[in-house]
Amino acid sequence: MTVLPIVTQEDPILRRNAKLISKITKRHRLLVRDMLETMHDAKNGVGLAAPQVGISERLVVIDIHKGPPLVLINPLIIHSEGKSRDVESCLSIPDRSGYVTRAERVSVTYLNTEGKKITLNSDGILARVLQHEIDHLNGILFIDYIN
Ligand code: NI
Repeated sequence: MTVLPIVTQEDPILRRNAKLISKITKRHRLLVRDMLETMHDAKNGVGLAAPQVGISERLVVIDIHKGPPLVLINPLIIHSEGKSRDVESCLSIPDRSGYVTRAERVSVTYLNTEGKKITLNSDGILARVLQHEIDHLNGILFIDYIN
């Protein structure tokens, strides 16, 4: 396993619309392994999106330390409701944090590493992290909501 370098705010890859993954390959499974290692190596890392390690593809890992880590391929928010305001930070913007208003609950569909379609209903911290990471796949950073 490898701890990958995390790109920072000024890298244009963070502003790109990441590519849909049409076929899950061995390369993706290795990338997942390295992204989990990278996220766990980072202090306060609860989520990481592939563009943050220089790969513009729709893949996210999340670990809020409740059960096993989540790996989401092509995640899509299909429903959101409520409002919640809380502090966020980002491994790609190491020196900043701030309050962001997001949906309180989101439902997300995604493919797992076996290519099986999953629907996940979430609230609280998980809902927030899902929205933050899926934003990364769309070139959006949390500071966009603050400025
Ligand atoms: Ni982030």
